[in-house]
Amino acid sequence: MFEIKTVRTYPDIYNECIEEAKQEQNNNARPSLSGTVADMGQYGKVFLCYPNWWGTLPMGVFTFLEAYDFSGKTMYPLVTHGGSRFGRSLEHIKKLCPRTALGEGLSVSAFDSNPNDSIRVSAPNRDVTAWLRKIGIAR
Ligand SMILES: Cc1cc2nc3c(=O)[nH]c(=O)nc-3n(C[C@H](O)[C@H](O)[C@H](O)COP(=O)(O)O)c2cc1C
Repeated sequence: MFEIKTVRTYPDIYNECIEEAKQEQNNNARPSLSGTVADMGQYGKVFLCYPNWWGTLPMGVFTFLEAYDFSGKTMYPLVTHGGSRFGRSLEHIKKLCPRTALGEGLSVSAFDSNPNDSIRVSAPNRDVTAWLRKIGIAR
């Protein structure tokens, strides 16, 4: 498990955060990441989990996908979103990783995963389990 984390943190204030993220997207930025995956070669399947930011991957995920060779692997995308599901992120993953097979993904609504609501939080858990079974990872 590797957490894609930018060196620079984003503002806690929502409006400031979305503004900064928008600027990064407009500038086609590649924010630096802290940490590296020691040996990506050992993995055949990669689960890429990210929030939908302005219709696609956060720019730090662009940095991540460009930093490693995912050729010959299968990538399974999991997006959390506020209504746009995958947006344009799958196209962008394909463009960044042209020699990587894209497996079936899962989109999880941020509104279904309110941690203060024990009923709704079970929906994504159930969806993730069903997805992992469908793609042959869980029994
Ligand atoms: C910078 C930013 C941009 C976002 N853009 C979108 C968007 O274009 N479409 C969408 O459905 N949700 C968008 N969202 C909502 C996020 O996808 C949602 O907050 C996230 O999936 C939930 O995870 P979190 O708790 O880590 O924020 C955006 C959120 C942020 C912070």
